[in-house]
Amino acid sequence: MENAYLPDVVEIAAIRDETYDTKTFGLRFVEPARWEAFQYRPGQFVEVSLFGVGEAPFCLASARDGADTFEITVRGTGSVTDALHNLEVGAQLGVRGPLGNGFPFDEVKRRDILFVGGGIGLPPLRPLIWQVLNSRGEFGKVTVLYGARAPADLVYKDDLERWRARDDVEFMVTVDVGDESWTDNVGVVGTLFPKADIEPQATVAFVCGPPIMIRFVVRDLLSMGLAEEDIYTTLERHMRCGVGKCNHCLIGDKYVCKDGPVFSYRQMKTMMDPG
Ligand SMILES: Cc1cc2nc3c(=O)[nH]c(=O)nc-3n(C[C@H](O)[C@H](O)[C@H](O)COP(=O)(O)OP(=O)(O)OC[C@H]3O[C@@H](n4cnc5c(N)ncnc54)[C@H](O)[C@@H]3O)c2cc1C
Ligand code: FES
Repeated sequence: MENAYLPDVVEIAAIRDETYDTKTFGLRFVEPARWEAFQYRPGQFVEVSLFGVGEAPFCLASARDGADTFEITVRGTGSVTDALHNLEVGAQLGVRGPLGNGFPFDEVKRRDILFVGGGIGLPPLRPLIWQVLNSRGEFGKVTVLYGARAPADLVYKDDLERWRARDDVEFMVTVDVGDESWTDNVGVVGTLFPKADIEPQATVAFVCGPPIMIRFVVRDLLSMGLAEEDIYTTLERHMRCGVGKCNHCLIGDKYVCKDGPVFSYRQMKTMMDPG
């Protein structure tokens, strides 16, 4: 049996600045055979270890395409993330994963798909958005709504332009506070709902972002008439083992690391209040 605590070694192949506090790292397995075994689905995550510093979970932020690298997008908030930001191309890290359940995909085919991302909540949605767009004919209407605090907080600017340019996606972006160069929407991401043509009964929503944003967006979606089981989000909890052994991330009878981090709103409600 493989040791779930033993990381594989990856090398930083590329680093891209997303914002003033967020970077995307392209990572390549040192042993190519491990890349073959590293089959993942959007919504899953990895535990990344910096030797001598510590370990932290990050969602898989790129779709598995022809490349031999995968991406994580990291906001510097503490010891591991700040140390990661100080590394350069060629540095080696440990990676355990893929971990967790991932988003439903085949199960939501033929439905309308609504993505709602807030700030650093776009990374878990990004590979799913591309997976849906790469199978565009198998879905109904696709809508991508993205909000950030300010223009300087928007991540994946290349992807945003590619989604905006497509005529088979409704794409809108908004910021809480604009600047002198901003000519697009201003307001929290929920202010985009009336502008988007959403058919509640036909729609499955994927919502990722800060907890406060998720709370308001879910409330809006429910009041629009989306079903509780058609709203999916990812939960962030402090984690240790990442594989359902240490009880660190337990909510009710569910391990966020193993049974999640993706849950429907219906599942989340039951976990928080099993009563
Ligand atoms: C499944 C999952 C996926 C994640 N994906 C991403 C991602 O794609 N990109 C990204 O930038 N971050 C992501 N995170 C959050 C990231 O793991 C934490 O920011 C990271 O663990 C912080 O480690 P640190 O050592 O740098 O900070 P620390 O020095 O440990 O802490 C810095 C501050 O962050 C708080 N903190 C630490 N961990 C968490 C946490 N899990 N949730 C809330 N607050 C925390 C601490 O209380 C402290 O205030 C994810 C978390 C989970 C559980
Ligand atoms: S992190 Fe150990 S059980 Fe989830």
